[in-house]
Amino acid sequence: MAATTVIGEHDYDRAQEIKDFDNTKLGVKGLVDSGLTSIPRFFIHPPETLPDVRPDTKPDSQQTPIPTIDLAGLHTHHRSSIVDQINHACRKFGFFQVINHGIPSAALDRTISAIKAFHEQPAEDKTRVYRREIVTGVRYISNFDLYSSKAASWRDTLTIRLGPTPANPLEVPEICRDAAAEWDQEIQRLGGVLMELVSEGLGLNAWRLRKMTCLEARVMVGNYYPYCPQPDLTVGIASHSDPGVLTVLLQDQTGGLQVKYGEGWLDVKPVPGALVINVGDLLQIMSNGEYKSVDHRVLANPKREARVAIAVFFNPSNTEDTYGPLSEMVSPEKPALYQQFTLSELMQRFFNKGLDGKALVNHFRL
Ligand code: OGA
Ligand code: NI
Repeated sequence: MAATTVIGEHDYDRAQEIKDFDNTKLGVKGLVDSGLTSIPRFFIHPPETLPDVRPDTKPDSQQTPIPTIDLAGLHTHHRSSIVDQINHACRKFGFFQVINHGIPSAALDRTISAIKAFHEQPAEDKTRVYRREIVTGVRYISNFDLYSSKAASWRDTLTIRLGPTPANPLEVPEICRDAAAEWDQEIQRLGGVLMELVSEGLGLNAWRLRKMTCLEARVMVGNYYPYCPQPDLTVGIASHSDPGVLTVLLQDQTGGLQVKYGEGWLDVKPVPGALVINVGDLLQIMSNGEYKSVDHRVLANPKREARVAIAVFFNPSNTEDTYGPLSEMVSPEKPALYQQFTLSELMQRFFNKGLDGKALVNHFRL
């Protein structure tokens, strides 16, 4: 064959390219800053997992919106209506947004700005915490599953452990240290309210989930989605469901988050001042399938301005306790759908398998 043959499979050392990228410790943002106009091949997803529809191509009228629930009046006679709306959203969509949640909009802005500032500061300050393990409670990484996923995603992430053993404050990058501590305070209070409302929605004692320590293990994940020059070839975050109990997400106004609904995908449109809440796999299992932990994904960001979204995942802190459908949710008419397992079994499975949709819940199905 002629020496001018196009570069074939043999000439592409995927593993080496991934390693070189990882070794830069600069993440996807580093690639964008270098001025590249096409994305490296290991970011290209196969057609089967590529989002087919851009978020803006469907007219609004065709979309069933993810509910936005007003929490004002929580301590008045409105409470039962709020519980009903949340209950309905958790059954039908597994997702909802809340407004009038009590967290001042200035605190939302400060949190987004601080996480953005972390990702946009000079490289030296970020590379210090670039690592794959989270032993210190702080980890900056691009693609936690870089070496195990089939294709990489166009996103960098700063993870901070908030509880039960918080990261050593001195380990938390200074540029977002105060903001992370402030966010934890706000989110613990709101998380408590949400755990009560969800428990009530399931017909349980309001304190049921709180008593199971579901507020105690908290991880904050600051996702940064830089501009992507070829957004149709990759994703911001691949389709997955969250493993824990509840997730509270603070997103900026860029958009791109989508939730699976039937055979299609619904946009979670940014609502100013709102927070996005979703049911995790463990809550689906504890509710014996009443509440749905739904697949979601983020499109690669086609806009020049980076997108920032900060998730806090709530989990129980007793990792060696056994979890499964709650006894109140099981009856002769509604036998248990899932096995009992320890939280560490669930998490090990999640982190070994990477993001692959609903496989986790199905694994524990009886
Ligand atoms: C996640 C997630 C959504 C987003 O981190 O699990 O779904 O918008 N994030 O970053
Ligand atoms: Ni998620």
